[in-house]
Amino acid sequence: MPKRYLPNDKWARKAKDEGFRARSVYKLQELDEKFHLIKPGMVVLDLGAAPGSWLQYVSGKIGPKGLAIGMDLQEIKMIAPNVHTVVQDIMKLDEVVEQTSKQANDRPVDLLLSDAAPSTSGIHDVDQWRSIELNQSALAVGKRILKSGGRCVLKVFQGADFDGFIKDVKREWKDVRIIKAQTSRDRSTEVYVIAQKA
Ligand SMILES: C[S@@+](CC[C@H](N)C(=O)[O-])C[C@H]1O[C@@H](n2cnc3c(N)ncnc32)[C@H](O)[C@@H]1O
Repeated sequence: MPKRYLPNDKWARKAKDEGFRARSVYKLQELDEKFHLIKPGMVVLDLGAAPGSWLQYVSGKIGPKGLAIGMDLQEIKMIAPNVHTVVQDIMKLDEVVEQTSKQANDRPVDLLLSDAAPSTSGIHDVDQWRSIELNQSALAVGKRILKSGGRCVLKVFQGADFDGFIKDVKREWKDVRIIKAQTSRDRSTEVYVIAQKA
C-alpha cells in the first residue's frame, strides 16, 4: 500500500539541509550514480529546470569548464557562473534550439535533461498526455542539438499513452532504459527514460 503523502518528507528536509532548491535533486543524483551521466566539462541542457536543484547538482559536477543551460516558463534565480538560465516555453522548438546555440556559443550539447511537468488539471489522462507532449518536444530538441552518442533523460508519467511513447523513442534512439527512481514518491507514476542518440 502506498505511503501517505507527507509534504515535508525526508528528501525534502535533506534538500533543505543541503541547500538544494528541490527534493528532485536526489532523483538526478540517483540516475547519475547509476548511469554516469554527468562529467566535468560537459555542456548540459536542462528543460523544465525551475526552481533549479538539478542545475545546482549539474553545476558542481561539470565544473568551471562545463556549461549548464536551464530553461523554464518560470524565472530561475542565479545559481553559478557555469549556469545560464532562460525563461522559455520548451514547446517552442525553434526558439529552444536557437537559445541553446546562443547560450552555448555553438558548443555541442553532451546531455539533455528534462524534468518538465505540466501544471496538473487533476484529470490523469490529460496530465499524462501533456507530459508526453513536453517529452516529444524535448526529444525533437535533442535530435537537433545533441551530439552523436549524447544521452537524454526524460521524466515521463505512466498511463494510457506511455507504451506508444516508448515505442516511438525506441524507433529513433538507442539503448532506451526506463527507471523508477527510489526517491520518487511511492504514489507517483513517474519514471525516467534514458535514451542515447545514434
Ligand atoms: C518538477 S519541476 C522541475 C524541477 C527541477 N528539475 C529542479 O530540480 O528544480 C517541473 C518544471 O517544468 C516546468 N514546465 C512545465 N511546462 C513547461 C514548458 N512548456 N516550458 C518550460 N518549462 C515548463 C514548470 O514550470 C516546472 O518548473
